[in-house]
Amino acid sequence: MKITKAIIPAAGLGTRVLPASKSVPKEMLNIVDKPAIQYLVEEAAASGITDILVITNRGKGVIEDHFDHSFELEKNLEGNPSKAKLLESIKKVTDLANISYIRQKETKGLAHALYCAKAFAAGEPVAVLYGDDVVINEENPAVGQLCRVYEKYGKTVVGVQSVERDKIGLYCSLGVTPFEGESRIMACDKIIEKPKPEEVMSLFAILGRVVISPEVFDLIEKWLAETPEGKELYLTDIFSYLGTQDRLLAYDFEGNRYDMGNKLGIMKANCEVALNHPEIGEDFRAYLKELVKTF
Ligand code: UTP
Repeated sequence: MKITKAIIPAAGLGTRVLPASKSVPKEMLNIVDKPAIQYLVEEAAASGITDILVITNRGKGVIEDHFDHSFELEKNLEGNPSKAKLLESIKKVTDLANISYIRQKETKGLAHALYCAKAFAAGEPVAVLYGDDVVINEENPAVGQLCRVYEKYGKTVVGVQSVERDKIGLYCSLGVTPFEGESRIMACDKIIEKPKPEEVMSLFAILGRVVISPEVFDLIEKWLAETPEGKELYLTDIFSYLGTQDRLLAYDFEGNRYDMGNKLGIMKANCEVALNHPEIGEDFRAYLKELVKTF
């Protein structure tokens, strides 16, 4: 079955990038000239996704505005031939996919956020792009890589990359074994969230891209009902359970991943994208070269 739906959870509090994220959602923070979430929507569209549900909450209305027409602005640009390219670029944003929105009324974590999309998924497998993880791979978009794995094997797929040993404790660690002679696909039988050094099974961590089978929504529903008030249900626990049932694959995706949920990640994304930017790349490279001489 071809995957055509994606969910972008974007209802987190973004406390690690405060005060920037106080009134601007972190998903709307810029990478050079586009907000982070536009990179995600472009990645999804380039992967064959046609329908996207963004999970939002109070204060995230600007996300909806960004993917909608801005008639006043368009009218103004239409009257100025030198701005034709700009006009085309802002119109293109509105046509990337059919985007709808639903609110997560309480910030109860990623698993709970995904559960808000149960009706949207309507029994189909869906791709999930975590709203603050930007992955750049123009030739072979990351979420598309995962969709092709799901379409071949029909199991939930978590997108992973190897992280540095001294950083793995901030992520999760996966227990993985080779799978059917595939080079980038692994069977995953266990996941430990924020592992202690002695619990690390591999340096592979889930980094912002997954494709979930419909059963994930049923599991979240059941487990949420059993989760005591005030405790967070971790999505990784659901994935870990699927691993014990031989229903989980891990895919070592190709692409440069930037964590827009932390300050260093935001700066790395802006620097690297600026260096390759057709308009400012050359000047920025020259500027950086001069700057490093002063260190
Ligand atoms: P994070 O855990 O990185 O986001 O969630 P956060 O809670 O905003 O981060 P900090 O720790 O406060 O800085 C990953 C993605 O899931 C979304 C976030 O918006 C982010 O894109 N999310 C998280 C939700 O949609 N709902 C939630 O309840 C939690």
